[in-house]
Amino acid sequence: MTGNVAIVTGASQGIGKATAVRLARNFENIVLVARNRSNLVETADEVTSAGAKPLVLDADLSVPAVADEIAVEAMGKFGRIDALLNIAGAVPQVDLFEMTDEQWEAGMALKLHGARRLTIRCWEALKASKGAVVLTSGNSALFPKAGYAAVGTINAAIVALAKAFADRGLRDGVQVNSVLPGPVMTGRRKSYLEHWAPIHNVSVEDAGRRFLQDSGIARYGEPEEIAELMAFLVSPPARWLTGAQLRMDGGEVTSI
Ligand SMILES: NC(=O)c1ccc[n+]([C@@H]2O[C@H](COP(=O)([O-])OP(=O)(O)OC[C@H]3O[C@@H](n4cnc5c(N)ncnc54)[C@H](OP(=O)(O)O)[C@@H]3O)[C@@H](O)[C@H]2O)c1
Repeated sequence: MTGNVAIVTGASQGIGKATAVRLARNFENIVLVARNRSNLVETADEVTSAGAKPLVLDADLSVPAVADEIAVEAMGKFGRIDALLNIAGAVPQVDLFEMTDEQWEAGMALKLHGARRLTIRCWEALKASKGAVVLTSGNSALFPKAGYAAVGTINAAIVALAKAFADRGLRDGVQVNSVLPGPVMTGRRKSYLEHWAPIHNVSVEDAGRRFLQDSGIARYGEPEEIAELMAFLVSPPARWLTGAQLRMDGGEVTSI
């Protein structure tokens, strides 16, 4: 396919960045969305080296008007949208009994409503291209913890939201799935360990090892591994895969 377009949110670092670079092998144009422009420019350089044309859009997805702006900009520049990968997320990891309304609202404004709004704004274009959407959840959707309750709650909502989009996608020819990564070593996870370690009087390295041991898995995942799953989900061979929630977690979830 020529001239095809993928939008990747959260493309300035971590799983979103790895996904944008991986998609450069399958898509001609990659729209890179996040707030940090200089990090996005670094991603753009890697996307160019990997063979696609990047478009950098620095924007705060928790601001309602931004979804429209991204869809309008992508359509104005390319005239089509073939894939939308909603990966941006920064839900505060705060105890259930300490988390403020503002923190809950900030988590939902970005990860839940940011993804919901952008998917809706891109929907007509996705319908026209018979495109594909991915929403990023997380394993905490399956085992919410009091220590960071909003993460699990919002991730569970994302799985349900993806299912609702997939339902409409049956009628409109748009394929929608959610991905649940297990523990992946990204900036987000590193800063959580840096926050957790001094509270529990251990080094960051020991905190990392302890968390891994508790998870029962051999190692942390790499962003590039999740990127491979993302790329598959928006590729032609995955066309009949829709309405699914896919875990990639090194075996962290042991139930069926
Ligand atoms: N890493 C894991 O172990 C893990 C596990 C389960 C689920 N997940 C999910 O996977 C996704 C990516 O996680 P990650 O670990 O790669 O995180 P990360 O390295 O912290 O990256 C988060 C991305 O979201 C962007 N972002 C944050 N706030 C934004 C805003 N208001 N508007 C636009 N973009 C914003 C960040 O860019 P800017 O700061 O430049 O805006 C960054 O590109 C998240 O949804 C996360 O919940 C991760």
